[in-house]
Amino acid sequence: MPKLSKRAQLTPASPIRKFLPLARAAQARGVKVYALSSGDPDYSVPPAFFKAVRNYQPKVLGYAPSSGLFEHVAAWQKYYQSLGVKLQPENIIPTAGCAEAILFALLAAADPGEEVLVFEPVYVSYKSFAAMAGIVLKPIRLKPENGYALPSVGEMEQKLSPKTRAIVVVNPDNPTGKLWEKKELETILAFAAKHDLFVIADETYREIRFQGQPECLLKYEAYRDQIILTDSVSKRFTLPGARIGCLASFNPEIMGAALRFAQARLSVGTLEQVGTVPLLRQAKTLAQKARKEYQARCGLVSRELAKMPGVTFRPTQGAFYIIAQLPVQDAEDFVRFMLEDFAYNNQTVLVAPMQDFYLTPGLGQNEIRIACVLKKPDLKNAMQVLKFGLAEYQKKNPA
Ligand SMILES: Cc1ncc(COP(=O)(O)O)c(C=O)c1O
Repeated sequence: MPKLSKRAQLTPASPIRKFLPLARAAQARGVKVYALSSGDPDYSVPPAFFKAVRNYQPKVLGYAPSSGLFEHVAAWQKYYQSLGVKLQPENIIPTAGCAEAILFALLAAADPGEEVLVFEPVYVSYKSFAAMAGIVLKPIRLKPENGYALPSVGEMEQKLSPKTRAIVVVNPDNPTGKLWEKKELETILAFAAKHDLFVIADETYREIRFQGQPECLLKYEAYRDQIILTDSVSKRFTLPGARIGCLASFNPEIMGAALRFAQARLSVGTLEQVGTVPLLRQAKTLAQKARKEYQARCGLVSRELAKMPGVTFRPTQGAFYIIAQLPVQDAEDFVRFMLEDFAYNNQTVLVAPMQDFYLTPGLGQNEIRIACVLKKPDLKNAMQVLKFGLAEYQKKNPA
């Protein structure tokens, strides 16, 4: 039997997706499962998307250019301009979601065996893509007890080696819900400049922030050749199924590499590029509506979590996730219990255990991530079910 590659063996299963079979089995038993594990909101798609797709009636549906449809790239340009960043078409490449932009950014920044710094807990796809690319991720730990604040530069410098090539900053952050402060971002940029690192700036949740105005790291002109921006329409327009994002950079070498990667996979879907043009044009209004909705949802979940004995959490400042520390030893076992052994009024909840969001073994054992992606009445029910499930689990597993 031929042997599987090391990278195939090392690429982890998504902790967000690995409990879905148990959730489906619960549903097959007739249990209603509130799915709060993945960032896949039930918020409706802006109608302009389908209108634009319907109005596009080409005789032939050919490949779009690898560098993106002219009109689509122009819409991204205009969108960035509204954020104060003036990009040329050659500074933007549409990608299959931010996910593909992350892959391109990592591939352009580091070779196999080289290292990239990430803040942990980290959005899990970084772990998978790094494993696929043979890149080693070095974690800089953020702690809930000090509000996930940036550690000292000295602490960050301890993670450096001659093989370090880049640092990733996700703002607003998934999974911590942290909004990076201006001072923290400036420290990261200066740190990267001093040590000659690329900064991979993931701004998937840019507008979903519960204080201040949407920002783009590319506004820092002094550092702009170092920054590789990865972006997405998935969250701000509730369009994860469209698989549209982009990679943007002022660095011509990075853009050249990204274009060659993009040529290898030919193009991004034409219909989805067409559909997102009007959304990018009305980004401010649409994203503001989404922000308000997620703020209300996260607020509701926070209020409910605050009523649960032994549960601690830090209210989210952006994105739509909340990490909660539970009074349990093994959150993964708790998640399994909720799906296999528990139902309240024939309902249960699927959340994501946090262990796999860490790189350092042993961290996150008692943590879950709640994605506030359902409508408020559903979230309210889900929190009730979670509370009862937790009490039942603690009875069966006394600390
Ligand atoms: C921080 C972060 N980056 C990237 C992505 C991928 O998004 P996309 O749907 O655009 O591929 C996600 C999805 O949840 C995310 O949370």
